[in-house]
Amino acid sequence: MAGEMSAIGSVILALFLAGYLGQQYLPPPKPRVIGLDLGTTFCSVGAFQPGTGEVEVIADDRGRKSIPSVVSFNGTGIYAGHEGQELSDINPQNTIYDAKRFIGKTFDQETLDKESARYPFKVMLNNGTAEFFVSTNGTFTASPEFIGSRLLLKLKKMAEQHLGVPIEKAVISVPAEFDEMQRNYTIRAANLAGLDILRVINEPTAAAMAYGLHKVDVFNVLVVDLGGGTLDVSLLNKQGGMFLTRAMAGNNKLGGQDFSQRLFQYTSERVLQQYGVAPTLKEDVHRLRQAVEAAKLRLTVEPHVTLKVPLHLQITGAEGPQEKHVVFEEEMTRELFEDLNADLFQKILAPIETVLVEGRLDKDEIDEIVLVGGSTRIPRIRQIISQYFGKEPNTSVDPDLAVVTGVALQAGIMGGAWPLQVSAIEIPNRDLRKTNFS
Ligand SMILES: *[C@@H]1O[C@H](CO)[C@@H](O)[C@H](O)[C@H]1NC(C)=O
Ligand SMILES: *[C@@H]1O[C@H](CO)[C@@H](O)[C@H](O)[C@H]1NC(C)=O
Ligand SMILES: *[C@@H]1O[C@H](CO)[C@@H](O)[C@H](O)[C@H]1NC(C)=O
Ligand SMILES: *[C@@H]1O[C@H](CO)[C@@H](O)[C@H](O)[C@H]1NC(C)=O
Ligand SMILES: *[C@@H]1O[C@H](CO)[C@@H](O)[C@H](O)[C@H]1NC(C)=O
Repeated sequence: MAGEMSAIGSVILALFLAGYLGQQYLPPPKPRVIGLDLGTTFCSVGAFQPGTGEVEVIADDRGRKSIPSVVSFNGTGIYAGHEGQELSDINPQNTIYDAKRFIGKTFDQETLDKESARYPFKVMLNNGTAEFFVSTNGTFTASPEFIGSRLLLKLKKMAEQHLGVPIEKAVISVPAEFDEMQRNYTIRAANLAGLDILRVINEPTAAAMAYGLHKVDVFNVLVVDLGGGTLDVSLLNKQGGMFLTRAMAGNNKLGGQDFSQRLFQYTSERVLQQYGVAPTLKEDVHRLRQAVEAAKLRLTVEPHVTLKVPLHLQITGAEGPQEKHVVFEEEMTRELFEDLNADLFQKILAPIETVLVEGRLDKDEIDEIVLVGGSTRIPRIRQIISQYFGKEPNTSVDPDLAVVTGVALQAGIMGGAWPLQVSAIEIPNRDLRKTNFS
């Protein structure tokens, strides 16, 4: 009997101990607020991990940490991200990208026609705002915020799947130049995706936060964001724990696509020199463009690469037109890539000089330089910037993920995650205008 009692006693003690230890080793609470970067060409989602104090950028089921900002419609459904991108070749009229360039903006017919001429899809004017015309098994229009909502919904699902909890709250970033209406429509996009937006923060502020600059003693931060198609330069001034955008400038026609285009032109000329004909077949041009894009990326880490592209050239001989199968092979150096783009690379300095003038600062008064956007991986671009300032820029965070990292930090702060961090509050600057070079 006594033995039984003590056996029961030890069971109770064991249960008690297990409960106690369990509490000690209980996994930290799951993040409930996510950070969203709804970019012009790519989007990402991140979560602040309570406990470790680290941000995790969430990958999809194939390990990809950003999704293309593309939404495609067909008779079966609506496809966002990589699935949308995959449909762009066969369904270009109903595959919408760059929707962020239209969100929350008012247009007149002439401006809208000019803006939309370069797209394979139709953009229509509806009471001063842009709408995309979609024709699948029926015809309808989709607003830019609806396109945004499909991308955000995809990111929300990625986060829910990864974290294993439903997510209803988020912090989202927007370009510093976005006005109140553009911010409101971005919030509406999130609402359509079932997300409540706790705060909207500027992309450059988010990038500065990714480097922890909200926690250290810096006063003037210059953020250079060079993406696929645009350059944005922002001068931030920290006052106490708050960031104020002092000046903005940019070039909305300068980015990675332009650098690729120069390399593509050069490569086409080399084909012409070697074989007497330029590549004209659609598949050849497509293959050459892909090879050039891959070469550009590799040249950021390697001094030279070899391009090898099979082509079906259209030769006009004595017996009429003929197809000639060749394998075009060409060695390319980083130096060549830099020479081809030398004038474009130099254009980066104009908006930098402008923000310094407008912010009334000398270049040696800049405490930190933060680089954002994939094109800032190009060594020559980093060199131009560091030579201009006589100091090294901050580059330790992946330039494609710096914004989402900062937004997720802010989301962690809003969610009251532990360890608690200093919040970076932004001072809105309504009167600021962005200078554009292009
Ligand atoms: C729409 O695209 C999806 C995904 O690629 C495909 O499975 C489906 O068959 C397509 N539907 C139509 C009507 O083309
Ligand atoms: C198009 O067809 C699909 C499947 O047949 C249907 O589910 C969808 O609702 C249709 N869409 C429109 C716009 O008619
Ligand atoms: C058109 O837009 C204006 C404000 O921009 C609004 O007052 C009006 O109700 C809109 N009209 C329609 C038909 O949506
Ligand atoms: C933006 O939304 C806020 C809050 O809903 C509203 O007060 C404000 O008038 C809106 N501004 C614009 C320009 O739409
Ligand atoms: C980058 O930022 C950190 C602040 O987090 C700073 O300590 C560091 O010196 C900066 N500069 C470089 C070149 O990394």
